Amino acid sequence: MSDSLHGVVAAVTGASSGIGGATARALAERGATLALLARREDRLTTLAEDLGGATSIHVVDLADTEAAVGAIGEVVARHGRLDVLVNNAGYGSLAPARGSDLADWRATTAINLDGLLAVTHAALEPLVNAASGSRGVADVVNVSSDAGRRVMPVGAVYAATKHAVGAFSESLRQELAPAHVRVGVVEPGITRTELPDKGEGDTPDLDSLGELGVLEAADIADAVVYMVTRPARVAVNEILVRPVEQD
Ligand SMILES: NC(=O)c1ccc[n+]([C@@H]2O[C@H](COP(=O)([O-])OP(=O)(O)OC[C@H]3O[C@@H](n4cnc5c(N)ncnc54)[C@H](OP(=O)(O)O)[C@@H]3O)[C@@H](O)[C@H]2O)c1
Repeated sequence: MSDSLHGVVAAVTGASSGIGGATARALAERGATLALLARREDRLTTLAEDLGGATSIHVVDLADTEAAVGAIGEVVARHGRLDVLVNNAGYGSLAPARGSDLADWRATTAINLDGLLAVTHAALEPLVNAASGSRGVADVVNVSSDAGRRVMPVGAVYAATKHAVGAFSESLRQELAPAHVRVGVVEPGITRTELPDKGEGDTPDLDSLGELGVLEAADIADAVVYMVTRPARVAVNEILVRPVEQD
């Protein structure tokens, strides 16, 4: 089986750090041409220089629906196709609901759910078109969370958005299966990225978790690469990856 991604155009949202950056690198190593989406232009520029080739950057706030739709249009105009969409951009805090800021809840739904929906909506027809080409399939990979499968007494809104991503993904999978667009969900456990520093509330101290208590971004990138390099007949719908010591 060839697991080469030569000739494949892959868009990764949230490519400026963490899991998105690692995923972009891993897909490029397999030969894919990358379109990198996020707000921080300097980070995207540095990564695009590292990846070389026809890598494009798209500086966009994906919480802005019009801008998100426009960015996917830009990707398709630039590369002429879109074979793989990795919806990875996300945000969330582990704050208790009581005393939390409603603006923080809105910021979470705006990117984790509304942003993902806008990007996916804009990408549907290009993906269906790509699936009719020689590769025989196209891929949507939605980066959810273990919080998309279970809930805890903090992070209620984060968990709500990730559960919604799971429901959206499974329905979309069923609808797009006849068009050979595979839809999969990757659900990371605790992963060392910038995310824990951004939210309100209880920031986990990753260093105290030890080597077996926290994943690296590349571990999640591996799961994404596995999904999109299967033969056309194989659809890996869901991968839950936790550090070995996570409960
Ligand atoms: N780290 C974990 O423990 C963990 C666990 C489970 C799931 N996840 C999920 O993994 C995904 C990636 O997160 P990460 O851990 O890699 O965190 P990260 O290092 O903070 O990366 C988040 C990425 O999302 C982008 N982003 C956020 N808001 C955006 C917006 N409004 N418009 C465009 N881009 C935006 C950020 O780019 P800019 O700031 O440059 O825009 C950044 O590239 C998220 O969906 C997260 O929920 C993470």
